[in-house]
Amino acid sequence: MQTNTTTHAPVVSEEDDRALASVFSAYAVAAALWLLFATGVGVLLAFKFGAPDFGPGAWLTFGRLRPIHTNATFYGFASIALVGVAYYVCARSSGTRLHSIRLAWIGLWLFNVAAIAGTVALDMGYNAGDLEYREWPWPIRVIFLAALVVTAWNLIGTVARRTTEDIYLSNWYIIGGTLWTCIIAIVAILPWYQYGLGQVAVSGFYMHNAVGMWFTPLALGIFYYALPKLLNRPIYSYALGVFAFWTNLLFYPIIGSHHFLFSPLPWWLQTTAIVFSVAMLVPVLGGSANFLLTMRGRVRDMVHSYPLMFIFVGVIGYLVGSTQGTVEAFRSLQEIWHLTNFTVGHSHLTMYGFVAFAVWRCISGWPSSAASSTSSHCRSAARCRGWIGFTANRSSSRSSTCRAITSGAVSVAR
Ligand code: HEM
Ligand code: HEM
Repeated sequence: MQTNTTTHAPVVSEEDDRALASVFSAYAVAAALWLLFATGVGVLLAFKFGAPDFGPGAWLTFGRLRPIHTNATFYGFASIALVGVAYYVCARSSGTRLHSIRLAWIGLWLFNVAAIAGTVALDMGYNAGDLEYREWPWPIRVIFLAALVVTAWNLIGTVARRTTEDIYLSNWYIIGGTLWTCIIAIVAILPWYQYGLGQVAVSGFYMHNAVGMWFTPLALGIFYYALPKLLNRPIYSYALGVFAFWTNLLFYPIIGSHHFLFSPLPWWLQTTAIVFSVAMLVPVLGGSANFLLTMRGRVRDMVHSYPLMFIFVGVIGYLVGSTQGTVEAFRSLQEIWHLTNFTVGHSHLTMYGFVAFAVWRCISGWPSSAASSTSSHCRSAARCRGWIGFTANRSSSRSSTCRAITSGAVSVAR
C-alpha cells in the first residue's frame, strides 16, 4: 500500500503511534473473532433450512440462533470493526494522537461484554422478541449504549485535538454517525415507546437507523480516507462529499416505516418513508459517483492493489444494495418481495458486500502496511480472501434475490 497521503502529516510521538496500533489491532482481532463466530452460526442456520432437526436441544433451534447471528454480525463484528478503524482514521486524518487510549480499551471491553452477554442471553431463551435487532434484554443494551457514549466522547475528543483547521470529511461521517447512534440507542430503550403502534414506529426507526446512520456513515467515512490515500490523489469532489453527508442526514432518519408497509401505521407515515427512500438516491448516487470518479482511469490498479479491490467491491455493494433498497420500498414491489428472501439478499449485499468489504480493506492494510506491501504471501492471501468473499457474497445475494422474485410473484399470482 502506498504511504503517500493527501491528508496532513501526523504530528505524534512513536509511543502514541504504538498505542494507536495496539488499540487498532485489538479491535481488529475482536471483530475477526466475532465474524468467525457469526459466520459459523450463519452457516448452521443455512444448513437448518434443509435439516431443521439437526442439533439437539432448545439452544440450537433456528429461533434462538437467528438473532444470535444478526446481533453478532451487527454488534460484535461490524460495530467493533468500524470503531477500531474509526479511531485510526480520526487520529491520522486529524494529525494527532487518540484523545484517550484508556477510553478506547474501556469501549472495547464494554462492546465485548455486551455482545457476549447478549449471545448467552439469547441462547438461553431471554429474548426481547418482536424488537428486531433489539432482541438483547434491555440491561445488556444499556451496556452497549455505554460503549457507544464512551466511543463518541473519545472520537470527538480526538478530532477536537486536530492540528488542521478543517475537520476532514471522513470525520464528519464518523462523528455524525456515532452521535446519531447514541440518540437511536436511547430511543430504543425508553420504556414508553415499547408497546402498541408506537413500538412498531420505533422499531422501524431503530432498525433502519442502525444500518443507515451507524454502519453506513462509518463505512463511507473509511472510503473517504482510504481512497485518496491509496490512489495518492484527492477525492474527486469534497463539496459533493459534504452534500452527500447532509442529504444522508436529512433523508435517512425518516425512512424506517418502509419496513412496515401495509401495517396499521398511519398511511401518510408509510408514504413519507417511501418518498424519502427515493430521495436517498441523492446521497447514494452522489457518494458512489464521488468514489468512482476518484478512481477514474485507475481501475486497473486493482490488479496489483488488493485494498483497492476491496474498496471497489464495497462501493459497488453500497451503490447496488442501496438502489435495490429504494426499489424495494415501493408498495407495488413490497407486495411481491416483503415475505420472501429478497430482504435477506439485500441485507447480505449491504452488510456483507458493502460494510464488511470496507472494514476488511482497512484491517488487512493498516497499520501494518509495510508488512502487507512487501510480503507476497500476505498479498496472495488477501487477494484470495477478496475473491472468495466477493464470489460468495454476490452469488448468495443474487440467488436469494432471484428465488425471492420468483416465489413472491407466484404468491401474488395465487
Ligand atoms: C457465510 C456467511 C453467512 C451465512 C451462511 C449467513 C446466513 C444467514 C441466514 C441463513 C440467515 C437467516 C435468513 C432467514 O431467516 O431466512 C441470515 C440472516 C442475516 N444475516 Fe447472515 N449469513 C452470513 C454472513 C453474514 C454477515 C457477514 C452479515 C453482516 C455483516 C450477515 C447479516 C445478516 C443479517 C442482517 C440477517 C437478517 C436478514 C433479514 O432479516 O433480512 N450475515 N444469514
Ligand atoms: C438508500 C438506501 C436504502 C434503502 C432505501 C433501503 C430500503 C430497505 C427496505 C425497503 C427494507 C425492508 C424490506 C422489507 O421489509 O420487505 C430494507 C431492509 C434492510 N436493509 Fe435496507 N435500504 C437501504 C440501504 C441499506 C444499507 C446501506 C444497509 C446496510 C448497511 C441496509 C440494510 C438493511 C437490512 C439489514 C435490512 C433488513 C431489515 C429486516 O430485517 O427487516 N439497507 N432496506
